[in-house]
Amino acid sequence: MKYICLKCSKYEAITTKKANCDCGGLWKLDWKPKKFDLDLIDKDIWGIFRYRNFMPLIDDSWKSISLGEGMTPIIRFNEDVLLKMDYLMPTLSFKDRGAAVLISHCKSIGVNKVLQDSSGNAGNSVAAYSAKANIECEIFVPKGTSDKKINMIRSHGAKVNIIRGVRDYCADVCRLEVKNSKAYYASHVYNPFFYEGTKTYIYEVYEQLKRIPSNIFIPLGNGTLFIGVIKGLEELLNSNIIDKMPNIIAVQSEYCAPFFKTVSTKNKNLVKVDIKPTMAEGIAIGKPMRANEILDYIYKYDVKVVISKEDRIIEARNNLAKKGIYVEHTTAATYAAYLTYCDVNGKISDTLIPMCGAGLKSDH
Ligand SMILES: Cc1ncc(COP(=O)(O)O)c(C=O)c1O
Ligand SMILES: [Zn+2]
Repeated sequence: MKYICLKCSKYEAITTKKANCDCGGLWKLDWKPKKFDLDLIDKDIWGIFRYRNFMPLIDDSWKSISLGEGMTPIIRFNEDVLLKMDYLMPTLSFKDRGAAVLISHCKSIGVNKVLQDSSGNAGNSVAAYSAKANIECEIFVPKGTSDKKINMIRSHGAKVNIIRGVRDYCADVCRLEVKNSKAYYASHVYNPFFYEGTKTYIYEVYEQLKRIPSNIFIPLGNGTLFIGVIKGLEELLNSNIIDKMPNIIAVQSEYCAPFFKTVSTKNKNLVKVDIKPTMAEGIAIGKPMRANEILDYIYKYDVKVVISKEDRIIEARNNLAKKGIYVEHTTAATYAAYLTYCDVNGKISDTLIPMCGAGLKSDH
């Protein structure tokens, strides 16, 4: 198993402490998991590592690092919609799937200190798992990030750097610090191990339902859940478990919609967009680093990209809360996009929507 650069195709050992290839390209894992098979799941483990037969783990570090992430319920919301309750996680967001695998990898290769930039949730996850792994941690967040997320990161013993500027600038500042220090860049965007965790979202859906729903909504900022979901589905396809991709609908904020604009204008490369502040802070990414990879998937699998209207986020959040489901605004935005999609295209049944982040996380 090696890393392969997405830009120049050069190989690199996965034990490397470098953040990316010398040419600037990001890595992908050059590794093929076993064919997915329900009989190869370790049913004694109540968490994502029950799927470790399909994960690129070097050793057993995960055993002392796991916080019991994953195994989130799927509930019926109404006759058309199923919700996967991914905010029922150790740090209250789906990012724990990725962080558990990424920090296990860090432990396996002897990392002592990690740096990471985040809109908050991935920072919460990386801080929590670093704490469990006894790894020093420093997180960069943009000014305006919910105080609750910041306090949570601090409570895990991580240092928080609040950066004046938008999310993309915050990432630039963190990367500069990575260059100048010897710390490991535990980025949910750069590091391929993160996606080996988020792909368990699909494994779980299949194990729970014994099928894959016809329509799958996914929030799309940097694409950590998006890429994980596509990877998981590709593995099910390659294992002859499903025979076609479901209808995948990726959701962006109307105030920060680079993929929406790119796909609407049928561009091959990501187009530049103006960004306005949005309540959907988790998907407010103007310059996603894996844009080309995500666009390849979008065009290959005919993924629809839709926008979530800012003025429907609160309505959507209230609709969910009135039924007992209390989510943060970024997650309400995914449901708002579903409502608009049905208004435009008519009702769609057999739809799965992820409930990614808990309501207690946002301040609004
Ligand atoms: C609650 C929530 N939903 C969705 C996302 C989007 O994830 P990504 O930026 O990896 O596409 C995030 C990212 O932080 C998030 O916090
Ligand atoms: Zn390269």
